[in-house]
Amino acid sequence: MITLEQVKYNPDVTVYIKKANEFPGVIGYTEHGERHGNYVAKNTRKILRELGYNANTCELAAIAGYIHDIGNVVSRHSHPEHSAHLASQFLKELDMSVEDRVLVMSAVRNHVANECPEQDNHAYA
Ligand SMILES: [Fe+2]
Ligand SMILES: [Fe+2]
Repeated sequence: MITLEQVKYNPDVTVYIKKANEFPGVIGYTEHGERHGNYVAKNTRKILRELGYNANTCELAAIAGYIHDIGNVVSRHSHPEHSAHLASQFLKELDMSVEDRVLVMSAVRNHVANECPEQDNHAYA
């Protein structure tokens, strides 16, 4: 099982998390770095535990929560898609199974629930 700690200490992820905060910060977005990732990881793990999911699924949820905004290094617009593709790359390098990778990718991609084009639903996601 690949753990959140393994993901956190991957050198690429360290840079993604740092820059995913810096780049949107320049144009006035709220903090989207390590603090935000840790907060989301902690709460996604807690929610899935309370729902009775197994340890691996809870870990995958925590990983998805931690990295969900790394796509901001590419573009704030469509950052969920960019996050999912970046995640696929480094999770494959960590030898995560394809089944687990697609779960993480899907969770990351879909973290912006409302796709309404009239609404800026990315402001705080
Ligand atoms: Fe987001
Ligand atoms: Fe977020």
